[in-house]
Amino acid sequence: MSIRWRLLISHTTMLIVTLVLFIISAMLIPVAITGDVRSIKDLYTRQYALKPLTKPEENVFLDVKYLAKKQPNQLLNETLLNQYDQKLDPVASGLIIRKGEKIVHSSKILNSIKDVKKLPSFEPENIKVRDTISINHQFFLYVKFDFYFPDQEKGSVVIMREVSPFVELSRSLFPLIFGLLFLSLILVNGLLSYFVSKSIIKPLFSLKKATEQMGEGNLNVKIDNKRQDEIGQLSDAFDKMRIKLKESIDLQLQYEESRKELISNISHDLKTPITSIKGYIEGIQDGVAVSQGKLEKYLSTIKRKAADMDQLIDDLFLFSKLDLKKLPFAFVDIDIFRYIKNFVEEINFDLEEKGIKITVENRMDNSAIVIADRDQLRRVMTNIIDNSVKHMKKPEKIINILINDEEDFVEIEVHDNGSGIEPKSLPYIFERFYRVDASRNQSTGGSGLGLAISKQIITEHGGDIWVKSQFGAGTSILFTLNKAK
Ligand SMILES: Nc1ncnc2c1ncn2[C@@H]1O[C@H](COP(=O)(O)OP(=O)(O)OP(=O)(O)O)[C@@H](O)[C@H]1O
Ligand SMILES: [Mg+2]
Repeated sequence: MSIRWRLLISHTTMLIVTLVLFIISAMLIPVAITGDVRSIKDLYTRQYALKPLTKPEENVFLDVKYLAKKQPNQLLNETLLNQYDQKLDPVASGLIIRKGEKIVHSSKILNSIKDVKKLPSFEPENIKVRDTISINHQFFLYVKFDFYFPDQEKGSVVIMREVSPFVELSRSLFPLIFGLLFLSLILVNGLLSYFVSKSIIKPLFSLKKATEQMGEGNLNVKIDNKRQDEIGQLSDAFDKMRIKLKESIDLQLQYEESRKELISNISHDLKTPITSIKGYIEGIQDGVAVSQGKLEKYLSTIKRKAADMDQLIDDLFLFSKLDLKKLPFAFVDIDIFRYIKNFVEEINFDLEEKGIKITVENRMDNSAIVIADRDQLRRVMTNIIDNSVKHMKKPEKIINILINDEEDFVEIEVHDNGSGIEPKSLPYIFERFYRVDASRNQSTGGSGLGLAISKQIITEHGGDIWVKSQFGAGTSILFTLNKAK
């Protein structure tokens, strides 16, 4: 069942329940007041209890009725009738005697009634004795008794009192007013259901449309939302999901792209040395390397090319093992300052040859013990420093290693004064296969795996790794290691 129908049904049910309760209470009020169940039946009938006679009217009516039955001629006796007039006067009521087609007596108060035809008609059975009547735009409550005079002429005694037409009017218009009220309720109910359902259904439809488009692979349709309510929140959440999905798909596509690129690069990188190795070997076989010196030069080139290939294959193999979480880690307690000092001493000789100065600055009060895998940590440091070395262009080449104490962990910063990294590349340098210089030039080109491997290793250690760099000024790679408890 659609929401629109549900709303309509619930509104209508509320309406019916309200009406039923209203009618029941309207019926119960007279019962409660009169203490008589039958009063319900009489609620809407034109009943006499609602228009009772006053005491003087009651008395005069009883008298004249008696006279009409026993001595009708007495009803022509003006003296007697005047006495009745006086009795009725205080209650603003009057007496009319009709004989045949003539009004033979009329109290002063009823002087305006001249036309005998306007009076209630003759009815010898005296069934409709009390009622209301409208004469010349005036409204009267009357009680009447019809009889025959001794000369067989029709006679009537009527006691009349003017009443407000409003009560009577509302009584007679009640069905119409009630009907109109009921109609307007139905109308309001319909309109309410329509607008409420529209306000719910419209955004739901646009959500549905967006979902269908997403299903067809179009993740670019933004879901417009100007609402703050629950549906607005749903739309917002949905749009966030769309953006996340789009990002992850874009990332996936990017991975796919770099993987394809890597395969083509690997093929190229493997093909180039293999071609030259083949060339040198053929040269040796053909006797081109005539001197001992030339032969040795050929062989050492072959050896270097094979080592490069070996390195590339090792990197790939390591990365895939880390990626599949198949690399076992041997975590041990390490005095971090001593470890780094030793590491720097080891590589210092190579760096000095390249004209690079390296320093270690310990900013900790005491040296801290961290938990790490010695070999993997070494790989991380090597990868970071290799990058620094590759991107050194300045005459004075400096690498600083800073060790900071951060309560539960140690932060290690490797800073160089190299080329720096453009801000637009910064978010990607830890991504697998990402290289700022995609052209893989000889001096700086690598597989783009170095930092991705480092990140995998640091993550496995429960640490974080990030970069700060100023293009042209230098780069800092920072990472954390947890302290031993
Ligand atoms: N210290 C640095 N100075 C300037 N650029 C850097 C530095 N460190 C990293 N980069 C940039 O980040 C990219 C990614 O580095 P990463 O070590 O992952 O790959 P790579 O060095 O190109 O290849 P690999 O390390 O696998 O031989 C590099 O291509 C380089 O452009
Ligand atoms: Mg590298």
